[in-house]
Amino acid sequence: LELPRLSFFAGAQIPSSFPKEDVPELAFVGRSNVGKSSLINALGDTTTARTSDKPGLTQQINFYAAGNIFNLVDMPGYGFAYADEEARLNWKKLIETYISTRKSLKRLYVLLDARHGIKIADKEFLMMVEKSRTKFQLILTKCDLVLSKDIARRYQLIKEELKNYRYAIETPIMVSSRTRAGIDKLRRDLLFLVNG
Ligand code: GTP
Ligand code: MG
Repeated sequence: LELPRLSFFAGAQIPSSFPKEDVPELAFVGRSNVGKSSLINALGDTTTARTSDKPGLTQQINFYAAGNIFNLVDMPGYGFAYADEEARLNWKKLIETYISTRKSLKRLYVLLDARHGIKIADKEFLMMVEKSRTKFQLILTKCDLVLSKDIARRYQLIKEELKNYRYAIETPIMVSSRTRAGIDKLRRDLLFLVNG
């Protein structure tokens, strides 16, 4: 299974730079370094999104066109303590504005590191998502770094915690951009969302 070819076409540091809403969008958000940009590359079989082992690399909202059928949207990470306060507040507002105003947004994916689960920064972020009444689905990333004997238990714990959220889709998705586990399943979900 393949997605249409991905190409970067817009980066926005302020809402007025968001591109027009002519195709459905799927957005990826989460703590710095959780693997958002890597996941977009894995989904598209490309290296078009820049990735780094240092948190805070993606500093604007990046829009990738999949053919001219839909967009994948890469967000700056939240919860990154090393970025200066002003920059952090800016990204936070930018992401909030995107989430609460973007009509073409078909699904918000909130990424969590499978090893760490829902941290305080995630709870704060999810509170904002809930306030904006945006439906979201969790993606647990880097599942190659969790021992297979621990995976089921961790998955259950997170699923249990999700019951506290009104706008959460019940079942998180597990992926690894490294081993490609879960990538085809996620591609199928994306294609279903944009075609349905
Ligand atoms: P920011 O843009 O800084 O918010 O980070 P990001 O969420 O875009 O993370 P990025 O994709 O840049 O990845 C961060 C680090 O995690 C990089 O060193 C990646 O190689 C690594 N990484 C990403 N996905 C995986 C994965 O599935 N498994 C493992 N083991 N490492 C991963
Ligand atoms: Mg990134």
